[in-house]
Amino acid sequence: MFKTVEWKKTGVVMIDQRLLPDKVVYRTYKDYKGVANGIKDMVVRGAPAIGVAAAMGLALGASRIKAKNLKAFKREFQRISNHMKKTRPTAVNLFWAVERMNRLMDESGDLTVEELKDRLVEEALRIHDEDIEINRRMGRFGSRLLKHGSTVLTHCNAGALATAGYGTALGVVRSAVEEGKKIKVFADETRPFLQGSRLTAWELKEDKIDVTLITDNMSGYMMKKGLIDAVVVGADRIAANGDVANKIGTYSVALLAKAHRIPFYVAAPTSTVDLNIKTGDDIPIEERSSDEVTHLRGKRIAPRGVKVKNPAFDITPAWLVTAIITEKGIIRAPYSWGLKRLFVGKV
Ligand code: MRU
Repeated sequence: MFKTVEWKKTGVVMIDQRLLPDKVVYRTYKDYKGVANGIKDMVVRGAPAIGVAAAMGLALGASRIKAKNLKAFKREFQRISNHMKKTRPTAVNLFWAVERMNRLMDESGDLTVEELKDRLVEEALRIHDEDIEINRRMGRFGSRLLKHGSTVLTHCNAGALATAGYGTALGVVRSAVEEGKKIKVFADETRPFLQGSRLTAWELKEDKIDVTLITDNMSGYMMKKGLIDAVVVGADRIAANGDVANKIGTYSVALLAKAHRIPFYVAAPTSTVDLNIKTGDDIPIEERSSDEVTHLRGKRIAPRGVKVKNPAFDITPAWLVTAIITEKGIIRAPYSWGLKRLFVGKV
């Protein structure tokens, strides 16, 4: 099995997701700026994977800080954290991971600079390992929602490539398959970056899970034909009222699912829940380069100079979401109540 993000003696190693499925290339980043660029340029992507990469980037940055006293070290670490936070705006896992690393600094007591550097590496590794464990737990909860013989539609890539391993939405599928259920997956291509065709189809095929690729405009037809039993997607940020930010096109899939009375599930760890954001309207939506729309793998497919819009995410309102699958359990409406309880440990 491939490794999405890994901490090695040589640096932070990431599989270059821009080149998949044609080439499997691992890149080694030796400084935090490289990791930050890797996040920005989509070498690594997917909310939880971005969080893990950011934490490792901070640990790497910290290990190279020259400051001898704690005050100067913390000042420099703050600067590195701010740099990391500017990479991508929508996935809250990035900010969650940066905050978690900074909390460690605040609680460092009388540690020396060198001890603190070691602690930061340990914390980044813990975030990585916990993510896989959380996905497995989420998978076990989510699998209860999938019957033997079901076909699941998914959008974008919420798999092992989008996390430290196993996946959120695809973790639910993996878990059901491991329990012996026969599950088929329909993967939306996910224009413009093609996370569905390049990444979801690739990792499911690698795992020998039954996957059928469709273009984004085919899902309504497939639902009408009775070929889809459930939709399972990931999330980049979930607001306090249950509104879900996820890859552009998710909202359309959710509306289609509602119209066809097909359950629409969101699988996401609690680190994706942002109780500071009241509704989806307040979630920042990343606008990416127009080249992603006008070009396909470097080849122009639109007239030169045409006006382009390229929002990378959209908001699915809570009323379209049948349930949110987390590592602490399955939450149903009213979400504002259920999501709050997640953080006091009662689900
Ligand atoms: O732009 P991306 O590829 O980072 O967007 C990824 C998604 O929208 C995923 O569905 C989401 O991060 C969940 S990943 C477990």
